[in-house]
Amino acid sequence: MEMAGRGDSGLEKEVSMLPAIAWKNGSLVMVDQRRLPWKESYLTLKSVEEVARAIEDMVIRGAPAIGIAAAYGLALGMANLKAGADVESEFDSYYQRLWRTRPTARNLFWALERMKRVYEENKMAGLARLKRILLAEARAIEKEDLGINQKIGENGASLIPEGATILTHCNAGALATAGYGTALGVVRAAQARKKKIKVLACETRPFLQGARLTVWELTHDRIPVTLITDNMAGWLMRQGEINLVIVGADRIARNGDTANKIGTYSLAVLAREHRLPFYVAAPLSTFDFSLKSGQDIPIEERKADEVRRVGGRLITLPGVPVKNPAFDVTPARLISAIITEKGIIRPPYTREIAKIRKGQ
Ligand code: MRU
Repeated sequence: MEMAGRGDSGLEKEVSMLPAIAWKNGSLVMVDQRRLPWKESYLTLKSVEEVARAIEDMVIRGAPAIGIAAAYGLALGMANLKAGADVESEFDSYYQRLWRTRPTARNLFWALERMKRVYEENKMAGLARLKRILLAEARAIEKEDLGINQKIGENGASLIPEGATILTHCNAGALATAGYGTALGVVRAAQARKKKIKVLACETRPFLQGARLTVWELTHDRIPVTLITDNMAGWLMRQGEINLVIVGADRIARNGDTANKIGTYSLAVLAREHRLPFYVAAPLSTFDFSLKSGQDIPIEERKADEVRRVGGRLITLPGVPVKNPAFDVTPARLISAIITEKGIIRPPYTREIAKIRKGQ
């Protein structure tokens, strides 16, 4: 794994908006999101194992970005294969390794399954051709995601009133996708339509995606952003300082139940109490049509030290037992609408999600 500073990465030339990931000269380049906003540094990944660890350690994170990274990871592993390799078993071991990285985001599995389909259709084509086809598919997944986010933005902008103060959680922006973002894509689209909006970003303990990434990304794009700690949201709603909530998603069940960053559920409950709209913005690749409800969504439990420490510094007793579920599930009844690239879905979700799925 090689590191570079801004300017050496080549990312800024290859992707629009803020660069999270790009394929460059046979390697995968990622901005190291663990080090933002303090340092904008890039890692050059050269093996499947490095890509898998980058996903696990959250060098790259956010559901669509994880899917894109995994697709490129598979293409990378295959690109490195030498003539005479056992192609079938190598593909399978890369696939399994990437599959095990993070359990909650549907986009990871969606992207891997898509790559596997393409692999199965072309595995007899000869190794050189197979390598090109898999890389082209990973590139297509990335490119499509950018377009999908822009469409989500377009569709969602109409829901944002002029002058609105928008509360968001975690980072569902350009850094979490191929660019533009889902929840922050809607924010970007509203700003592009000259609505004078403001964003309140929850800091998002324990990993601080809001404080570190959303603040950085919005400041970069000159979108007004104010940081709050997670426990301030209720009071600010009561004070009339928030007009609506918009968040991304990691997995959405057939009935609209939505897994997203831990703390999202609390915000949805608060929004209902204060009669504020609560919107989810997500691509169809985040929907898990095999799940009837959110009850069966696997929730990742992360390392205890993420909670015990802030920025590496211990804030409690070193051995205190900790809970660290990385996601929660918001019941569909608390969600005002789900904004997708195919349009805005409103309740009853089971029926409306089925309709969108059919039209896919
Ligand atoms: O643990 P993370 O940072 O991967 O969690 C990310 C989120 O919860 C995002 O809201 C979600 O993936 C949507 S990103 C467009």
